[in-house]
Amino acid sequence: MTYILGLSASLRNARFGLGEEKLINDLKKIKTKNSLLKFVNKQTQILLKQFFEKGKKDNIPFNELYYTLRKRRGDRGLSNSEAAISFALWSAIKKGSDVKYISLSNIFKPNDRVEKIDYLKNLVLGCSGILLSGPVYFGDRSSIAQKFFEFLKNDSDCLEYIKNKPFAGISVGAKRNGGQETTLIYQIIDSTNLGMSAIGNDFETTAQYGGTAVAGDIGTMPEDNYGFKTSISTGSRISDVVNIFEKGKSKIEKKRNSKTYKLGIWLLQDDKNKKGESYINSILNKLNLNDFDVEIINVVNEKIRPCIACDICPTHIGPPPEYRCIIKQDDDFFKRYHEKLINTDMYLIAAYSPSSKEKVISYYQQFIERTRYLRRDDYLMGNQLVAPLVISEIGSNQNLHIRMLTSLIRHQTILHKPLIAYEHKNKILNEVNLLKDFQAYLNVSKIVKNGVEAKEFIPNRYHHYGYKVSEHKYQQDLKEGKFQISDSFRKKLHESKN
Ligand SMILES: Cc1cc2nc3c(=O)[nH]c(=O)nc-3n(C[C@H](O)[C@H](O)[C@H](O)COP(=O)(O)O)c2cc1C
Repeated sequence: MTYILGLSASLRNARFGLGEEKLINDLKKIKTKNSLLKFVNKQTQILLKQFFEKGKKDNIPFNELYYTLRKRRGDRGLSNSEAAISFALWSAIKKGSDVKYISLSNIFKPNDRVEKIDYLKNLVLGCSGILLSGPVYFGDRSSIAQKFFEFLKNDSDCLEYIKNKPFAGISVGAKRNGGQETTLIYQIIDSTNLGMSAIGNDFETTAQYGGTAVAGDIGTMPEDNYGFKTSISTGSRISDVVNIFEKGKSKIEKKRNSKTYKLGIWLLQDDKNKKGESYINSILNKLNLNDFDVEIINVVNEKIRPCIACDICPTHIGPPPEYRCIIKQDDDFFKRYHEKLINTDMYLIAAYSPSSKEKVISYYQQFIERTRYLRRDDYLMGNQLVAPLVISEIGSNQNLHIRMLTSLIRHQTILHKPLIAYEHKNKILNEVNLLKDFQAYLNVSKIVKNGVEAKEFIPNRYHHYGYKVSEHKYQQDLKEGKFQISDSFRKKLHESKN
């Protein structure tokens, strides 16, 4: 049986060797969230106690104490990153996934020593997904996490194997806004660039970048309830997505009749001569698109009004095909294209980004903000494989692909490697690699589509955390049974596709 591979990239990891296996065995025995919290709390306190008690008793200076504690047995205690991953792995176990755990600080040692790399490699080569937890160091990932990504990139077997495997992250920082999200975003960029499919946390904690915990000193992570919840939710999401991938792969293997997939390409920024659109058409002409029905919607021809932040969207609970944003003008892009946007099997958010912005027409930001009513409608744009498609002139430096990734993940999507065409003197410089990446996107997106269809219908309920007005409206709709009607419609729709 394959497993989700949990990794911790902390310099203070407490588990190694048999202690890693023991952690998983202990987690498997825990039945409830309360017992989980108690267990993890106790384990993190062990490190804290060791630190103070041993230091006091033996009157050891802090620097010596650090080296003494590093020589522990490895079967007790948890660093903050290990605490967070324990929550996530427990949650994945509860969802039916098998899991394994390895502490990266026992592979990538101080002074650039590397030990047991084959052990790590074998674990990677058997996994169904990777869940990486680590501390925030200067708003970024730890050097151990960095070394892990470099290892994946340089090992050709691993690099090939991890393509089309889901990746999720958790980060722990000493402060609120200490860089937990930037750390997760860098990992999303790293993992998608390696060809993995990156995801965040689940809809129960409103689909953000992954687990985010606040803890400074050793032993403090379990006190952070939000960190606990988002770690649990990240474990649940990776378990679901691994399931989607496995179901999708087996459905494609078994299926004989061919199917046509609807690929939407939404071009949100172009120049007046539609140079972006013509680049995209010439790229499409060079791909094998036999199974695809592709539609490019060039938004620069349209009128997209900005969101008015009404905070009550969607205006009412209803079936997905009904347009329910408060902006109702007949010529508004979303009113005209609502059904097309929600009826894709996979989509790319595209833009042309020349270095001179003089002739550029951009609806990018307006488009993204207007999709709020779709996110709040139980993630109508979610659970599809999505990627940025950017034609970027050398020197443009707009970093649109990063902004696209960070906005798209909020729709509870599955992110794929950004497709970036580098333009110079009216030519695409990296066409061969771009076509390879594009074809890989098409292949993985089919897996996701089939997997989502084969999965049981569960409403991905949007939670209105942080909003009093819309939460009030939500509670009222719930009481009046409106979600039951809408859920049963969505369930039928889902089942008709399977
Ligand atoms: C070199 C270094 C840099 C750090 N930078 C940050 C930071 O930018 N933001 C933050 O919130 N915490 C920062 N921290 C604090 C750690 O993220 C925090 O202590 C975390 O709990 C460590 O997790 P661990 O117990 O798994 O090692 C830093 C710690 C170290 C050692």
